[in-house]
Amino acid sequence: MKKILVTGAKGQLGSELQVLASNYPLFEWVFTDRGELDLSDLVHLETVLSKIDPQFIINCAAQTAVDRAETEVALSDLLNHQAVAVLAQWTHANDCKLIHVSTDYVFDGIASNALTETAQPNPINVYGVTKLAGEKACLELNPNSIIIRTSWVYSSFGNNFVKTMSRLMQEKESLNVVNDQIGSPTYAADLAQAIMTIVTNNTWQAGIYHFSNEGEISWYEFALAIQEIGKFDCAISGIPSAAYPTPAKRPQYSLLDKSKIKQVYGVVVPDYKGSLRGCMKLLRSE
Ligand SMILES: NC(=O)c1ccc[n+]([C@@H]2O[C@H](COP(=O)([O-])OP(=O)(O)OC[C@H]3O[C@@H](n4cnc5c(N)ncnc54)[C@H](OP(=O)(O)O)[C@@H]3O)[C@@H](O)[C@H]2O)c1
Repeated sequence: MKKILVTGAKGQLGSELQVLASNYPLFEWVFTDRGELDLSDLVHLETVLSKIDPQFIINCAAQTAVDRAETEVALSDLLNHQAVAVLAQWTHANDCKLIHVSTDYVFDGIASNALTETAQPNPINVYGVTKLAGEKACLELNPNSIIIRTSWVYSSFGNNFVKTMSRLMQEKESLNVVNDQIGSPTYAADLAQAIMTIVTNNTWQAGIYHFSNEGEISWYEFALAIQEIGKFDCAISGIPSAAYPTPAKRPQYSLLDKSKIKQVYGVVVPDYKGSLRGCMKLLRSE
């Protein structure tokens, strides 16, 4: 029985993989979070990996606090880059397949068309710099790895835009949301499914893939969709990013082109609104 090790298993994506795991009983699943496998402990990391000895690693662990990363540079680099290098080295030496998750924030946001995997990265914040360094280390030290870049991740697990907006729309009479950052949200459950489509495929084609839900929207339009589905009574206004300063700069345009993952792996990419509806239905039933 092949063993799949999931890191960061209590995060959004890791939790969605835990939900899916029962659909894949032919694999032995090992879910770890920082307690069982601390990615910041580079020396110990290899020892734990050898002990678990998986045939697949899905790396969901990361420093994902984009604004905090601006001041926590060393920690971000440790988790998003150096630990990925160790995973890549270990998987290469031990004939293990590595799926590493990266981000649309490796791009600068200057583009105006959906970004393919060959588009030139040029991160504009520390998080993006460390995630890009992780991608490079991954492909250099294990050219057989698969990297999936994703964007604007949400889930019924963890904290995210959908949960925050839903709460604020019930608490407040009006809200301002930025309308000049364009991309597409990703329901972590859909990303987890896409990952399992790759894992269970007979062919393994290494390299970078893009995955998010279908749609091209701003955060403001995303908020409007949340409002519509939740039937929240709150006035929502679109504002420019300049009116909502954050420690980390965000790319203005980071829509990912999903053609490659669809063509190579036949991954089905659901529309963002249907997935949002599914997630919010789950949240309401909790
Ligand atoms: N969230 C987004 O909008 C977004 C967008 C684009 C790409 N991504 C990428 O998608 C992947 C999954 O993101 P996500 O949203 O599922 O992230 P998440 O919910 O923040 O989960 C990250 C997980 O990593 C764990 N972690 C942190 N430090 C660790 C350490 N030292 N050792 C082991 N585990 C550690 C966290 O544990 P604690 O909770 O204990 O810290 C958490 O369980 C990441 O690679 C991220 O960069 C995310």
